[in-house]
Amino acid sequence: MNKKIHWGIMGLGKIAHKFAQDLKLVDNAVITAVGSRSMDKATDFASSYDAKNAYSSYEELAQDPDVDIIYIATPHSLHYENTLLCLNHGKSALCEKPIALNQEQAEEMAALARSKNLFLMEGIWTRFIPATHKLLELLEQKSIGDLHYLKADFGFIVNAPPESRLVDKNLGGGALLDIGIYPLYLSMLVLGNPIDIKANAILAPNGIDQFCSVIASFPNNTQAVMESSFISNTPTEAFIYGSKGYIKMHRKFHQSEKLELHLYESDTTQIFELPIKGNGYVHEIEHVHERLHANATQSDLLPLEMSLQLTRHLDRIKELIGLKYT
Ligand SMILES: NC(=O)c1ccc[n+]([C@@H]2O[C@H](COP(=O)([O-])OP(=O)(O)OC[C@H]3O[C@@H](n4cnc5c(N)ncnc54)[C@H](OP(=O)(O)O)[C@@H]3O)[C@@H](O)[C@H]2O)c1
Repeated sequence: MNKKIHWGIMGLGKIAHKFAQDLKLVDNAVITAVGSRSMDKATDFASSYDAKNAYSSYEELAQDPDVDIIYIATPHSLHYENTLLCLNHGKSALCEKPIALNQEQAEEMAALARSKNLFLMEGIWTRFIPATHKLLELLEQKSIGDLHYLKADFGFIVNAPPESRLVDKNLGGGALLDIGIYPLYLSMLVLGNPIDIKANAILAPNGIDQFCSVIASFPNNTQAVMESSFISNTPTEAFIYGSKGYIKMHRKFHQSEKLELHLYESDTTQIFELPIKGNGYVHEIEHVHERLHANATQSDLLPLEMSLQLTRHLDRIKELIGLKYT
């Protein structure tokens, strides 16, 4: 039987709760410790999920000798320093997306993980859901022929106070880093590394992007057309078009439970129902367990190199739209 994996959770906000609920569903996952800026919050969270240790600082969590890996669920601007803190205390880390604010930070994080022989992965949970596995299988089988282009959007109306991590520039707010990362990641998974990127945005008065559109060109004369928005409710679907038909990832595509394969010649549509387990993070957690049990220091499905490339392309888009984080 595989040994238990002892998890720590850093930053006890919205996603930390969903992730903790899913940890409870995974064999051999133990929520050992949680760390917050507030002791009350840490104690409440720990008692809700039966965590043995609650800390009022991230530093103490990183020092807990009983923890194997820490899930970092803090705002974007803190991912770099929080990940370094974990790695420097000998802890593996699963860091929420985006892994860093820029490529320089991401490179340093990856280099430290490598030098310390610790596991590090960006929390792009979409990679591990059944719909993504099925999509890649259908593409591998050439079910839609030669690939032409991908179209994906992600948008919802944000009515958040200025201090919310979604819109506070100091916390890495904006649509691109929060949700635009999903269409971009999907395009890279399906089409490879962009060779050219065009982008435009509607910026908010504080300089964050409220809407961002990206057209990326890929090898083999393929393209991706992508949008992310905080000012409109959009379908949040993805379509992959090929010479013989298309595949649709149903809403919301980053956690899709339904794929549709449409073939032009026969004018037929095949539906694949692909339920996610729990809140959807179970698949990602199971993958991390499998890698840790194999003593791997990174994911084979979402390697650090992919996160570095993704960060590099996000940097390019930020440059094109005039989005700067200090
Ligand atoms: N995978 C997904 O589907 C998904 C979905 C949503 C979000 N995310 C990612 O998860 C991360 C957290 O998102 P969230 O929606 O959970 O955010 P959130 O509700 O705002 O929680 C973030 C937590 O970070 C901690 N924090 C530390 N310094 C902070 C500061 N200066 N201001 C605000 N919070 C601070 C706080 O925890 P303490 O007070 O306990 O220290 C806070 O509760 C982001 O990177 C986001 O992109 C991923």
